[in-house]
Amino acid sequence: MRIGVIGAGVMGSGIAQVLAQSGHVVHCTDVAEDALAKAHEGVTTGRYGFERAVTRGRLDRAQADAALDRLTFSTDFESAVGEAELIVECVPEKLDLKIKVFRELDRLAAADTILASNSSGFPLASLAASTDRPANVIIWHWASPPVVMKFAEIVVSDDTDPQVIERVREIAAGCGKNPIVVKDHPMAWGYVANRVYAAMLAEAGRVVAEGVASHEEVNQLMVDCFGWPVGPFAMVKGATSGWKD
Ligand SMILES: NC(=O)c1ccc[n+]([C@@H]2O[C@H](COP(=O)([O-])OP(=O)(O)OC[C@H]3O[C@@H](n4cnc5c(N)ncnc54)[C@H](O)[C@@H]3O)[C@@H](O)[C@H]2O)c1
Repeated sequence: MRIGVIGAGVMGSGIAQVLAQSGHVVHCTDVAEDALAKAHEGVTTGRYGFERAVTRGRLDRAQADAALDRLTFSTDFESAVGEAELIVECVPEKLDLKIKVFRELDRLAAADTILASNSSGFPLASLAASTDRPANVIIWHWASPPVVMKFAEIVVSDDTDPQVIERVREIAAGCGKNPIVVKDHPMAWGYVANRVYAAMLAEAGRVVAEGVASHEEVNQLMVDCFGWPVGPFAMVKGATSGWKD
């Protein structure tokens, strides 16, 4: 399948890598040249990139080279969109920006192209309503780092075409993810995972504000108690600035 990824930041670059690794032809586009250069470096020699995947025996050299060949990074938004059967939008979490991008996607993409957003929480209704194809608009919410996390929260409404839901679920499963389809709530931010996470983070913030424990202590306690890979504050840092070595 030909897939366009809009935005080559922390998420877009990793998502583009996963999709290419799963056999899709991917065109990842960004308005910023430096973001594209960084994305290319990340998918080749970064912590979760192809080189390390080969070194660790997760991919063989031929698979890594073929995946890289299927992956294009460029500022050419029109080509990325015009050629695609599925678009995954990964621009920053600003509703006005996402609506602007969705209007452009709707204008440039083929009529049957599926438009998916990796928003962290804006209602599907707000993005679908900005297009003339609400039945073909869906949320496909990934977790960071996309190469590692099996999370695939797929948000749909009564307006979403059942074939679109099935197609996205299939593609996510084909990428080794564990797709869970949930309902859109037009008035709430965060779908399921981030609503529950935000409630926990608010309490963690109160614990620190009350002087009960430091950020580091809260992080460590949650890791030790629940077996989480990192604590709540470290999770926010990783999600916003990437997962360093
Ligand atoms: N970081 C995470 O852990 C995480 C997890 C799940 C979902 N998300 C969501 O994914 C989306 C992207 O987040 P991110 O962390 O990758 O952001 P980021 O800031 O790392 O990357 C966003 C990229 O979009 C580019 N961009 C901005 N406007 C654009 C446009 N009009 N066309 C093309 N590219 C454009 C920017 O130049 C930037 O490179 C957000 O909606 C975020 O909430 C993030």
